[in-house]
Amino acid sequence: MSTPSILILAGDGIGPEAMEEVKKIMAWFDDNRGLKFDISEDLVGGAAYDAHGTPLTDETMAKAQDVDAVLLGAVGGPAYDDLDFSVKPERGLLRLRKEMDLFANLRPAQCFDALADFSSLKKELVSGLDIMIVRELTSGSYFGEPRGIFEENGERVGVNTQRYTESEIDRVARSAFELARKRDNRLCSVEKANVMESGILWREVVTKIGAEDYPDVELSHMYADNCAMQLVRTPKQFDVIVTDNLFGDILSDCAAMLTGSLGMLPSASLGVPMANGMPKAMYEPVHGSAPDIAGQGKANPSATILSFAMALRYSYGQGAEADRLEAAVEKVLADGTRTADLMQVGDGTPASTSEMGDAIIAALTASL
Ligand code: IPM
Ligand code: MG
Repeated sequence: MSTPSILILAGDGIGPEAMEEVKKIMAWFDDNRGLKFDISEDLVGGAAYDAHGTPLTDETMAKAQDVDAVLLGAVGGPAYDDLDFSVKPERGLLRLRKEMDLFANLRPAQCFDALADFSSLKKELVSGLDIMIVRELTSGSYFGEPRGIFEENGERVGVNTQRYTESEIDRVARSAFELARKRDNRLCSVEKANVMESGILWREVVTKIGAEDYPDVELSHMYADNCAMQLVRTPKQFDVIVTDNLFGDILSDCAAMLTGSLGMLPSASLGVPMANGMPKAMYEPVHGSAPDIAGQGKANPSATILSFAMALRYSYGQGAEADRLEAAVEKVLADGTRTADLMQVGDGTPASTSEMGDAIIAALTASL
């Protein structure tokens, strides 16, 4: 078997410094677990724009198509706010998602016990919280045509189109049903079938798949506005949520904040299986580029590290090593090592980005 490959696209803001810690952890797995990776690195987002005038070159896109997995840091920053829409950093990310056809975006919202006090909700509502949001990532209003800003009757009109085909709904729903089976066997499908035809079709397709192929999974349906409300009312009622691109964008931010620690949350974006049977995949933290703290060694690298753990599980068939890495992160938190985002006023001196990485490596070593 050839050495598994990974393309690192660290991107902008805190992306590169968080990625340095992942590279240390990859070296640890090489030294201690015999896990070798063929690592390549390239630019995305503002960094790619600065070097090449585009947020993602065709060469980088081709490399991304060719590797076993992409690990992305973050894109964007105030320096790029005034760029033309077509070359904004975010366009690089959206191009990767679309051209790699990464239709199933897995966003776990898990509340680490040691951090339950950081939630904006009462501790008892969130402790033990473990939700998985499966967000459709390659269609819906993010990509639907027609789109644009047009002249009409002497004024401009901004247009985006919410559009889903049956097959697009089918494939993301199946991913969600499969995941539910590996968890608590409950799936909540979220749309607005009360006002949108795309929502009516969504509900029909999900219901049919559930009845025909996943009768063992407990399926429920919820309107997206109600789901937002339920997430902040009693979040633990959910196991797996499956929803469209835009609702998933919004609901996953909401769910993430329930855990009190945006700096802790990874994500996986999965596509169709490649020749080796593993899905095409990109992994990235849920948080953004945090330009306000970039370059200061303050960033929490955990979300990027946990994204690599998801890569171990979903792209490299190394579930046990993924468990090991996740447990190491959890142990570091429980032992009290915290970056600034996980501390309150008066809590003492925060760990730096590299100290957090080192602590995770020490916990890994202790796990041997
Ligand atoms: C996300 C982000 C992106 C999105 C942006 C950066 C394009 O908010 O991954 O949730 O809207 O999908
Ligand atoms: Mg978002």
